[in-house]
Amino acid sequence: MNYFIRQFGKPEGGFGRFLSGIMNLSNNKMYKANIRILKGKKRILEIGFGNGKQLELIQREYPEAELYGVDISADMFDAATKRLGNKADLQIADACELPYQDDFFDAVITTDTFYFWKKPEQVLQEICRVLSEGGIFVNTYNRMYAASVGNCSEEDCMYRDIDLITSAERVSLQEKGQAKVGLCERQIVFRKE
Ligand SMILES: C[S@@+](CC[C@H](N)C(=O)[O-])C[C@H]1O[C@@H](n2cnc3c(N)ncnc32)[C@H](O)[C@@H]1O
Repeated sequence: MNYFIRQFGKPEGGFGRFLSGIMNLSNNKMYKANIRILKGKKRILEIGFGNGKQLELIQREYPEAELYGVDISADMFDAATKRLGNKADLQIADACELPYQDDFFDAVITTDTFYFWKKPEQVLQEICRVLSEGGIFVNTYNRMYAASVGNCSEEDCMYRDIDLITSAERVSLQEKGQAKVGLCERQIVFRKE
């Protein structure tokens, strides 16, 4: 994986912080689509919160919601903590091992992130475990990035989103809908049943 893609997968240092600002601009449509879906949700987890921009927008829209987040980058944790203060409960953690009890959240979201997960099926298992029954998992991503991240062949990568849907079914997350958010951006909503 080249340096540039590695930085998107785990932003670090000054360049990582710069990239996280770029992501805020390019992912804005996805944030808005997620905020609409989260209406009425009380306890929300974001996986891979980057510099915390999306959590900040969610907090503004739904100030009564309890917000949580995990990210593997210590530098992103620092940037998001600076932005959010005590408005969200943030932790440095890998989504492979979510530091929460079972059935805790009524929504888990992730934006522009799933193609960086080294063990996607394990992450889905964890998401399913921490979601309460009827809770939703919202995966919002860019198809172009899904096709270009990682060391896999282009053909394998093109189908990463489809692989994710199949893996989600294996851990009992049922697909409930897909939306086209932009030219390349997609949102898939799953429900734990
Ligand atoms: C491309 S950035 C997107 C950041 C943010 N979601 C946004 O839209 O601005 C991907 C983020 O996911 C985080 N990340 C990658 N793999 C992760 C994992 N296994 N567990 C938790 N966070 C992860 C990275 O550190 C990075 O902050």
